[in-house]
Amino acid sequence: MTDDSHPIPLPPGEGEERLIEAATRYRGNAISKRSGFSVGAAIQDETGRIWGGCNIENSTYGLTVCAERVAIWKALSEGVRKFRAVAVVTGAQEPTPPCGACRQILWEFAGDVPIIAATPQGKKKRFQLRELFPEPFEF
Ligand code: THU
Repeated sequence: MTDDSHPIPLPPGEGEERLIEAATRYRGNAISKRSGFSVGAAIQDETGRIWGGCNIENSTYGLTVCAERVAIWKALSEGVRKFRAVAVVTGAQEPTPPCGACRQILWEFAGDVPIIAATPQGKKKRFQLRELFPEPFEF
């Protein structure tokens, strides 16, 4: 989609702030009434394009998909295979890194990327995926 309400993917761009802005914007699309916890994520590919996602919950709860995985599935399904960085924005008091399942998926498909976790109030924490996920399952 390319209209203004669904500008996906965003045009090429560099920089952490752009990535956080995108994650913040996608957080606004979260389907999260079950938990009340809205998450936005954005992943930048090697060409600079930014792919965004939000968490999507449904009535089964267990079929929920996190924002990070929605974002990377979108990129992967468009043929993108190399990534530079990930941003995650939640409404928690402190920035929150990706959950364990997302760490596994990000590790497998994006490798040791930098991850910036942020809040709408401007708090930020920076991680490297390797430090969050030191003993990955790989085969
Ligand atoms: N969630 C994410 O989207 N990403 C994470 O890394 C952690 C959790 C979502 C899943 C669920 O919809 C809500 O946050 C509460 O766990």
